[in-house]
Amino acid sequence: MSTHDTAMKNATTQIRRALDDKALKPSIAGFFDEATNTISYVVHDPATNEAAIIDSVLDYDAAAGRTSNGSADLIIEYVTKNDLTVTWLIETHAHADHISAAPYLQEKLGGRLAIGREIIRVQEVFGKLFNAGTEFQRDGSQFDHLFDDGETFKLGTLEGIALHVPGHTPADMAFIIGDAAFVGDTIFMPDFGTARADFPGGDARQLYQSIKRLLSLPEDTRLFLCHDYKAPGRDEYAWETTVGQQKRENVHVKEGTSEDEFVEMRTARDKTLAMPKLIMPSVQVNIRGGRLPEPEDNGVSYIKIPVNAV
Ligand SMILES: [Fe+2]
Repeated sequence: MSTHDTAMKNATTQIRRALDDKALKPSIAGFFDEATNTISYVVHDPATNEAAIIDSVLDYDAAAGRTSNGSADLIIEYVTKNDLTVTWLIETHAHADHISAAPYLQEKLGGRLAIGREIIRVQEVFGKLFNAGTEFQRDGSQFDHLFDDGETFKLGTLEGIALHVPGHTPADMAFIIGDAAFVGDTIFMPDFGTARADFPGGDARQLYQSIKRLLSLPEDTRLFLCHDYKAPGRDEYAWETTVGQQKRENVHVKEGTSEDEFVEMRTARDKTLAMPKLIMPSVQVNIRGGRLPEPEDNGVSYIKIPVNAV
């Protein structure tokens, strides 16, 4: 059996166990950031109060070039109120639409900052694009841990497993904790569809395979999404669904959608999408583990914008 198949087998076993045994299910709180349509999660083990923060948001006023911590402070408040111990700060990928608040949260709450191993490839691509100097290491060393496909981890007494789900970017990971899968930017709510695959290093065929992989998990697996934009006929934000619901209802990739059909639809749709407003600051900061570029000799950090390069 390939490592790829072993990872899926282990994930399926873990989820089945958690679906059968309430004690193996995590408690999950979602925090919606309306400015970037992002959902951050605090996931914790009710038995030990050990917690992971997934995909946090640093508020950023692009016109003023100013960061602030309002969204991150809501998470800190929740963690403190519930007496949680943060052991992981996880990024599903290097986001292109918001800056990560992980360094700020780490300073306040502790925990190890982690992302998928393929972040190194993303650092290569964007290191070149932003003409970053040798001070920008392209080896993932800005993170405390790089997850491999199929790697298992613990959150208190709960079991976790990381799955590599490239397509939106080469480094996207999904993280399964108990019966819940945090799927990042792969699939969105069934009435909205799927993530775009047209960023540098993105690939619609890979995205299809990654989504297929996620939808091979048990039907009752809880899926938690990284974004929501509402959808025709739905005027409320939503971010939780199940594998079964996606297989029956996803408007882009339900059961029976072929890879070619998906790739054709995804490619055509991506051509109509504008770049996310915060792509340049987000990517530049997130490939550095959420830290701003090194300050220049006047002590100020600058965000670069490559002109006519993307
Ligand atoms: Fe993304």
